[in-house]
Order: sequence, then structure tokens, then C-alpha cells
Amino acid sequence: MAKTIIEPFRIKSVEPIRWTTRQQREELLRAAHYNLFLLPAEDVLIDLLTDSGTGAMSTNQWAAIMQGDESYAGSKSYDRFRSSIQEIVGYRHVIPTHQGRAAERILFGVVCKKGDVVPNNTHFDTTRANVEFVGAEARDLVIAEGKQPGLIHPFKGNMDVAALEALIQKVGRERIPLVMLTVTNNSGGGQPVSMQNVKAVSAVCRRHKIPLYFDACRFAENAYFIKHREPGYEAKTPKQIAQEMFSYGDGCTMSAKKDGLANIGGFLCTNDDLLAQQEKDLLILTEGYPTYGGLAGRDLEAIAIGIQEALEEDYLRYRIASTAYLGNHIAAQGVPIVQPPGGHAIYIDARAFLPHISADQFPGVALAAELYLEGGIRSVEIGTLMFGPAAKMDLVRLAIPRRVYTQSHIDYVVEAIVEVWKNRDKIQGLKLTYEAPFLRHFTARLEPAEQTVAVRS
Ligand SMILES: Cc1ncc(COP(=O)(O)O)c(C=O)c1O
Repeated sequence: MAKTIIEPFRIKSVEPIRWTTRQQREELLRAAHYNLFLLPAEDVLIDLLTDSGTGAMSTNQWAAIMQGDESYAGSKSYDRFRSSIQEIVGYRHVIPTHQGRAAERILFGVVCKKGDVVPNNTHFDTTRANVEFVGAEARDLVIAEGKQPGLIHPFKGNMDVAALEALIQKVGRERIPLVMLTVTNNSGGGQPVSMQNVKAVSAVCRRHKIPLYFDACRFAENAYFIKHREPGYEAKTPKQIAQEMFSYGDGCTMSAKKDGLANIGGFLCTNDDLLAQQEKDLLILTEGYPTYGGLAGRDLEAIAIGIQEALEEDYLRYRIASTAYLGNHIAAQGVPIVQPPGGHAIYIDARAFLPHISADQFPGVALAAELYLEGGIRSVEIGTLMFGPAAKMDLVRLAIPRRVYTQSHIDYVVEAIVEVWKNRDKIQGLKLTYEAPFLRHFTARLEPAEQTVAVRS
């Protein structure tokens, strides 16, 4: 077997990317108020803002798109979408939505009320916001190891089962409408959850009669980590592992923009008939009829194929190896990253990278801005700007779009990060000049904080 893991595809269609000068990038950054979400995408050379909806589709997906049945009700594309998903998740009801957060809004809108508490290993930003929007509390219960960026542990996304049990005892099962497990744990560094942990959480939930849901965005990557890190799963396929994982739960939310390998779409699944009816009623009000849920028939086709392709072993081997390649090469130069490398992204520990910038001066946003200035690379802060004072870490996430960039693109990113690392003392903190009442990171405006003292301890 050759040591080099190559991209398991040939490129049939190309999209040019565009260089800018450093001076242009300085002007563009000022115009974007130091918030990379506000940059025009054409002024970005390598876009690692997100792995969500940014993947390249396969020839089979494009072919399936031509078969999209755009009937308003009872479309054949919905049947194919449902069967493909059901084969993997095994849940009775599959409700299409336009993306993951719509599934979250419908789920929490139906099951949660003011005063409820929703435990998760770590809520993603939209999940937390949707829980809080209905007046419930989002509680993160990831294991202690998951909060220490530099610590190596095979399953840092695991939930602290004792903490879950203690929470249920404290607030009472009637105030906990569901427990969620995010696989992989995006906000905690793209770290996987072990099958053992899924089983333990499921056992607690079943004992207390609380439904267990998966935030399943990256279920295929999670399955691949289980195969390679958890004894007893070496000989199983990623699909068998995913099927087993879902069997311990009662439903899931999914953004098909990740391991659905589609550019748009999502779904909500449940085994509960009554709940499914209430969810479909709300779906009709806000998303669309239950056989399309805000998607075109062609989108349903792309997801039906994509979700199966995401479980192919050659694809997952390349996917996980290329993310690790980026992480290992920058870590070898001393750049502090969340260890071990996650599935879909590398997370730089901005507090360790920039110890001279305090959390209230947004070290993650400052570092992301510098990566753009250096190499035209767009990344995203996951820290104090995204979560406010609740943030336990300030991370810069470099998310790798699926099947889009080649190894030479990644080599270029490595070079740029190492250059910024060498000049890290010169980076300044930032201050907010505008913030929205929720999900402020998308639209926030910032400017350099004059008071940053560039001293390293
Ligand atoms: C773990 C997790 N949950 C939920 C979502 C929301 O999905 P969407 O962006 O499709 O609304 C995301 C998106 O990044 C995610 O990473």
C-alpha cells in the first residue's frame, strides 16, 4: 500500500480562485469591520470559513439532480430521500428541512418550553440559540478532557455521564425534554463521541425516560473515528457503525450540508408518531409540505446520494487524513491546536497563540483577521465573539470543505499560518463597535483596540 493518501476523485470542472495584494486585503478587512463573514467571497483565496454547504458534488449527485421530481406533494424524490436516510438512521419519520437549524427550530419549538433544560455534549451556536429562543437553558456537559485543547484523548467529544445523571437528579426529568449528542462535537474541536459513551448516555436517558437525539451533522466522520479508535469496531463498515449509533437514540437533527455532501438541506427524524405530527404541522407553516420541507426535489436527490457517499471508506480515509495533515504540519512548527486533529476542521487555540490578548479583546477574531491579511485565508472564530462570556476557549477554526481543495492548497495554508506564528507578537486585540442581540458573530463589527499591550510572558 502506498503511504501517500490521494484525493479519491478526478476533477472534472474547475472554479478559478483569485489573488489579492496585501494592501487590498488591508482595505477589504477594514471595510468588513474585521469580521470575515462580511468579506465578499471573491476576495478570499482559500475559504475555510466552513465545511457547511461548501463541498463539491459527485457526478452521481449531478446525475440524480436531473431526476428531481418537483411535484408539490408525494414526490418520488422524497421517497428516495427518505429510504436512503432511513437505511442509515432507522427512524420512523424523516422530515425534510431547508437546513439543520430549521430542524432544530421545529424540534425545540415543539418539545421545549420556558424553564426547560437541554443537555448536550456541546451545543453548536444555532442549537444553543434555538434552545434559548424558546426560553429553555442549553447546558454543555462535555467531559473535562474535552475542555483542554492540548490534551490527547481519542474521544474528546464524549458527554460526562455522571454530570448528566447529576443534572437530571437536580432539575428533575420533567424539565429535560430531551438530551442531545453532537457527533462530531463541532464547537469542542470536531472531536468524536465513542460508541461506549453513546451507549452510556442512552442507558441514562432510557432509565429516566428522556428521549436521546443526535445532532448528526458529521455522523459519518464520527463513525470513521470509532472504527479506527474504538476496540471492537475495526472490522465494521462506517455504515454499520452509524446504524448502531442511531439505534441507541430516538431521533436526530441533521444539516445535510455537512455529511450529506449537499450544498443545502437538512432533516429531522423521530420515532414518536405524535411528535412527528406536531413537527409536520409546524413544518407546513414555516418550511413547506412534508414531502419537500423547503427543498427542491433535486436537492432531495443530491442528499439521498450524498449521505451514502459520505460513508464510503476511501472517501473518509482521505477526508480524515487531509484534515490531520494540516493539523500535524502546523503543530510540528509549534502552533497550538486542539489535539488530536478533528474530523472536519483544525482548531487553533487562539488564547495560547496570542497570550497577550485577553479574551474580551477577541484573540480568535484577531488571529483570523491576521490569517486573511497574510494569505487571503478565511477562517472563523469559535470563542468569545460567538458565545460571549460563556466561551470556555477562544479557537480559530479552519474548516475543510469536502472534496474541494487539494494537498497543494493545504500546503499553502500551512505556510501562511507558520508565517503568522512567527510574527504573533505584533497582532493586536479588537473591540466591538456593533453587536446583534443573538448570533452576534455573523454581523458584528469590530476595530483595533488601542490598548492592547504586545507583551508575551
Ligand atoms: C454541529 C452543528 N449543528 C447544527 C448546525 C446547523 O446547521 P445549518 O448550518 O445547516 O443550519 C451546524 C452547522 O454548522 C453544526 O455544525
